[in-house]
Amino acid sequence: MEVIDKHTGLFDRIANIYAWFFDRQKKGYEIAIKKLSETEDISEVKRVLDIGCGTGALCSVYAKQGYKTFGIDSSAKMLAQAKKKNTGKNIEFQLASVADDLPFESNSMDLVSASFVAHGLPRDLRMKMFREMHRISNNLIVLIEFNQHRRWYIDIIEWAEQGDYFNFIKSVDLELDSLFVSVKKVDLNATSSLYICKKIR
Ligand SMILES: C[S@@+](CC[C@H](N)C(=O)[O-])C[C@H]1O[C@@H](n2cnc3c(N)ncnc32)[C@H](O)[C@@H]1O
Repeated sequence: MEVIDKHTGLFDRIANIYAWFFDRQKKGYEIAIKKLSETEDISEVKRVLDIGCGTGALCSVYAKQGYKTFGIDSSAKMLAQAKKKNTGKNIEFQLASVADDLPFESNSMDLVSASFVAHGLPRDLRMKMFREMHRISNNLIVLIEFNQHRRWYIDIIEWAEQGDYFNFIKSVDLELDSLFVSVKKVDLNATSSLYICKKIR
């Protein structure tokens, strides 16, 4: 519990600064979702959940697509920024942690995503999150995350964040393979990828 609180506390402290990058993040996520739509048929997607939604940039892209959008995060301050940045949009934000069972029915979403959340969590909590994503989605699960290609500035940021980045990049492929029937990796840029996972073929 202490590790979780420390991580959430960090995001509570930096939420105001994090929100400065909302528009830039949104542009990146628009490209990511376009790439997803070129790789997978997402024409039937209607309900989506973004876990660790932060200030809500990815939720904003989903809402623009017309999806009924839900975002959860364990940081009240990040969620406060998310609500401010997405005023008037059809998005339900909720305070919740992947350390607990999430307040959504099994198979209740067409797409469950998490962007740049998994690498910050210790392995047992990360696996708990993956299992929750598997439970809540009716098939499609998408991570937007770092890949194995390192850059010195990312190493420094991740060392300072004290998450699990250095283990994550080594083990994420095996972790996802152990849970999902298929995992497709599509590069977004030099250091991050879409990890497109399915629970049914
Ligand atoms: C690097 S930020 C990414 C935020 C957002 N997904 C984005 O792409 O901008 C990681 C987010 O994960 C959230 N988070 C960390 N631990 C969590 C937990 N146990 N449950 C839910 N969210 C968590 C943090 O509060 C933070 O908002």
